Amino acid sequence: VKRVTTTSLQTMKGAGEKIAMLTCYDYTMAGLLDAAGVDVLLVGDSASNVMAGYETTLPITLDHMIYHAQCVSRGAKRAMVLVDMPFGSYQSDSSIALASAVRIMKETGAHAVKLEGGEEVVESILKITKAGIPVMGHLGLTPQSIHQFGSYGIQGKGEEAANKLIKEAVMLQEAGCFGLVLEKIPAVLAAQVTHALQIPTIGIGAGVDCDGQVLVMQDMLGMNDGFAPKFLRKYASLGEEITRATTAYVQDVKQAQFPSPEESY
Ligand code: KIV
Ligand code: NA
Repeated sequence: VKRVTTTSLQTMKGAGEKIAMLTCYDYTMAGLLDAAGVDVLLVGDSASNVMAGYETTLPITLDHMIYHAQCVSRGAKRAMVLVDMPFGSYQSDSSIALASAVRIMKETGAHAVKLEGGEEVVESILKITKAGIPVMGHLGLTPQSIHQFGSYGIQGKGEEAANKLIKEAVMLQEAGCFGLVLEKIPAVLAAQVTHALQIPTIGIGAGVDCDGQVLVMQDMLGMNDGFAPKFLRKYASLGEEITRATTAYVQDVKQAQFPSPEESY
C-alpha cells in the first residue's frame, strides 16, 4: 500500500477530495482505523484526557506521547502518523522545540508533528521544518491554552478575532506548515481560511468547507457519553456495547457459565 504523505494531502486538496483524520493512541485501533481508510492518524495530546484521564491536555509528557506514537506507528500501514507536540515541549524556545520534534521522529516512526498556536510559534515551526520535519499547525480553540481561554468555547468570533486568525493562518503557511487544524470556529471563518490557504485545513467544529475533518476516536465511536458537543457526530455506541458485553461476561463468570467444557482443555 502507498503511504499517505504531505504531498498526497496537498493533491487531495487540489482535487477537492476530503481528508479523513481521526485520533489514535494504540496499535490495535491503528490497524482497524488504517484498514478502514482513515488518511491521517493523529496521536493527539487528547490522550491526556481519553487515555490517561486528566482534565486537560497539559499534564501529558513527551515520553507519554512518544509511547503512544510508537504503538500507532506499528499498526498503521497506509495512514500518515501525525503526532501532537505536548504542552511544554515547544513553547519556550525554538531549540527545545526542534529537539522535541527530533525525538518524536527518531523514536516513533511517525511522519509529522503538530503544534498549537500562531505568531508565537512561527520561529519554532521554521526551525523544525528546516530540519526536514513536516509540521501541521493548529488554530482556533487550542486546548493547551485552556487556562488563558477560561473555557472550551468557540473561538474566532467577531471581526477582530477573525482577522487575527486569518493572518496567523497565512503566517503558519509561510512558516512552512503542510496543513492546519481549525478547532471550534465559525464555519464561515473556516471556509474563508480554507480558500485563502494553499495548504489543506482540517476542521473539528469548523464546518463542512474545511479540506478535511478530524474527531477524537473515543468520542465518535460513542465511548464517552458525557461528552456531547454540537460538532460531534457519534457513529457507534461502543460504550453501551462494551458495558453489555462486560456485564454478560461478569455474569457468566459469577454463575460458572464460563468457561464451558468446549472452552476447557
Ligand atoms: O489532540 C487532539 O485530539 C487534537 C484534535 C482534536 C485536533 O488535537
Ligand atoms: Na491536540
